[in-house]
Amino acid sequence: MSTDAEPGFVYLVGAGPGDPDLLTLRAAHLLRTADVILPDDLVSDEVLALASPTADIIPVGKRCGQPRITQAGIHALMLEHAQADRSVVRLKSGDPLVFGRAGEEIESLRAANIPFEIVPGISAAFAVAASLQTPLTDRTNASKLILATAHHAAGKVELTPSWSGSFPDAATLVIYMPGRDFAALSADLIASGIPPGTPCVAVSKATTPDEHICATTLVNLASAEVGPAPVILLIGHAIQLP
Ligand SMILES: C[S@@+](CC[C@H](N)C(=O)[O-])C[C@H]1O[C@@H](n2cnc3c(N)ncnc32)[C@H](O)[C@@H]1O
Repeated sequence: MSTDAEPGFVYLVGAGPGDPDLLTLRAAHLLRTADVILPDDLVSDEVLALASPTADIIPVGKRCGQPRITQAGIHALMLEHAQADRSVVRLKSGDPLVFGRAGEEIESLRAANIPFEIVPGISAAFAVAASLQTPLTDRTNASKLILATAHHAAGKVELTPSWSGSFPDAATLVIYMPGRDFAALSADLIASGIPPGTPCVAVSKATTPDEHICATTLVNLASAEVGPAPVILLIGHAIQLP
């Protein structure tokens, strides 16, 4: 039997891709029993609906239309509520440890001696692959799976030199936060050594009713009609669409 969210604890919880059926049992139980929930903007309303009616839900998404909250502001909220003896769920889309600044949040909790637990979730890469009904690896052509982002701390698309030689043969590459300059990204990836004809799928708003799939090749990504954010790219020969 799963224990309830405990006073004074912070839980870094993966909310998965949005469908509440894809939450872990632990995540669902913590959501039902936490006093305070701090969700990112990609966390779905259906997942938040599992929270206790008495829970204090404080959105901390950096694009949620509210005055922008800083990462330090999120740390302050976690600490403030935990130190007031409330149980806090810090709810992140997908898996909390994948491109979610979890390292900084863990550091702030450790520095303040706040006990915490991390609950994994289904990351976008795996949710998208399931939705597309494609494997991410293949014993004949993809023995490596690389999770990358085109976004770095300064918020710019990285340039060719930093990716040059990064991607081995026989790999599937998944790019989170690809930005919107697909021509530059395509050129950078080709310059890094990925063949231009490599299959590439851009999936927008995956696993939602507005999901948009754009199947193309790496070279044609430059002019492809990719849907609105959030978008994730799957690149490699293992990706098989019907
Ligand atoms: C800040 S990262 C968070 C990743 C998250 N921790 C995970 O494990 O999926 C946000 C990026 O994840 C990807 N993403 C998350 N949800 C998505 C969705 N429903 N459809 C497409 N991409 C998604 C996009 O690349 C988006 O820019």
